[in-house]
Amino acid sequence: MQLLLAVLALPLASAQLNELAQKAGKLYFGTATDNEDIGFQNKTYLQILNDTKEFGQLTPSNGQKWFAVEPELGVFNYSYGDVVADIATANKQILRCHNLVWHSQLAPWGYGISYLEQRKPHRRSHRPRNQRSQTLVQPMLRLGRGQRSPQRRRDLSQRHLPPSPRPEYIRIAFRAAAAADPHAKLYYNDYNIESPNNKSAAVRALVRDLKKEGIRIDGVGLQSHFTAGSAPSIDNLIWTMEGYTKLGVEVALTELDIRIMEPETSSNLAQQSSDYKNAVGACMLVDGCVGVTVWDFWDPVSWVPGVFTGMGSACLWFGNFTKHPAYQGVVEALTNDTRRGFGGGGGHNGGWW
Ligand SMILES: *[C@@H]1O[C@H](CO)[C@@H](O)[C@H](O)[C@H]1NC(C)=O
Ligand SMILES: *[C@@H]1O[C@H](CO)[C@@H](O)[C@H](O)[C@H]1NC(C)=O
Ligand SMILES: *[C@@H]1O[C@H](CO)[C@@H](O)[C@H](O)[C@H]1NC(C)=O
Ligand SMILES: *[C@@H]1O[C@H](CO)[C@@H](O)[C@H](O)[C@H]1NC(C)=O
Ligand SMILES: *[C@@H]1O[C@H](CO)[C@@H](O)[C@H](O)[C@H]1NC(C)=O
Ligand SMILES: *[C@@H]1O[C@H](CO)[C@@H](O)[C@H](O)[C@H]1NC(C)=O
Repeated sequence: MQLLLAVLALPLASAQLNELAQKAGKLYFGTATDNEDIGFQNKTYLQILNDTKEFGQLTPSNGQKWFAVEPELGVFNYSYGDVVADIATANKQILRCHNLVWHSQLAPWGYGISYLEQRKPHRRSHRPRNQRSQTLVQPMLRLGRGQRSPQRRRDLSQRHLPPSPRPEYIRIAFRAAAAADPHAKLYYNDYNIESPNNKSAAVRALVRDLKKEGIRIDGVGLQSHFTAGSAPSIDNLIWTMEGYTKLGVEVALTELDIRIMEPETSSNLAQQSSDYKNAVGACMLVDGCVGVTVWDFWDPVSWVPGVFTGMGSACLWFGNFTKHPAYQGVVEALTNDTRRGFGGGGGHNGGWW
């Protein structure tokens, strides 16, 4: 009798993020993780990371970047990224790779335009079984302070590669990856492309151009590193995502975190919760949005405090492993049953696992 009562008293509220996302027809709710961070020395961190009810997808934060996989010209070392890939494989979590080319964390030895063509066989021979998507190219367009239209990044496209109206390396990267792996979803991934602005318009133009040229691009990743109180509205996010999906690509929130100005207060944590809810809610309302990845889930390993002075607490778990109010905000978005199509299975979930 007592046992029975105890069972009945279990709160239904214990449903977890990936479980809820999949139930609502999305492919996954996932997280980035970095095996060189202190999280990997913490059993509680690893237990949450391993919990497939919470996270159905992992992204290695740094270990697959160029500096890590080819530290010397022609010398390949995949072990940093493979730690995460192996965990995902063991746990049957989807792997979103990250990322082949961007303007930072590049190979220390420099490179040239023929690089990706030459390296095709290596990429082919190193595809983890559960890899679903490869973030190929990211931050290639930049909207600088005081600029109204996006510029090509000078650091990558002009310092290292010959200039062209559309950076040639984007085409090279997509062509090479498509040849190396017909199954991985190939994404263009960027920040400040989550709202109607000139940069998101430039990304739409890029997708259109690649498609017109017969170059395969399967998705656009919206990084979604937001600040509580100035995150895009749910309507703007939906409008922007649908602008991409109309072009025949899928979308995903690939690096979601929402920073607050320290210290934590009940009001900035409530704002953060509302912003997380809207971001995840937008993905739920766009059929072509396959899933959400948070840019790690534990405040002590977040990149935010190191980059944005005075800001932090951007994740869903505090340092002591209690959950931010925003966790509940995400749960509400995932279970917003007034949403169209809720519970219908959504159609994205078949085929991968
Ligand atoms: C490969 O990378 C790993 C992880 O970064 C490092 O520990 C190891 O020393 C590297 N191996 C070689 C042969 O450089
Ligand atoms: C996490 O999962 C990996 C892969 O399944 C396993 O090797 C490891 O022991 C797990 N760690 C914890 C703390 O559960
Ligand atoms: C886009 O750029 C044009 C000029 O290049 C500017 O007039 C316009 O206001 C910009 N639009 C947005 C949304 O920033
Ligand atoms: C919940 O669903 C309703 C109906 O589709 C929608 O208007 C609202 O924006 C959604 N809210 C969130 C946070 O997802
Ligand atoms: C993991 O982190 C928690 C919260 O900060 C801490 O209490 C615990 O001692 C840590 N465990 C290890 C093994 O570092
Ligand atoms: C955990 O940390 C949060 C944020 O610092 C704090 O508000 C909360 O009281 C702590 N909870 C426990 C049980 O220590």
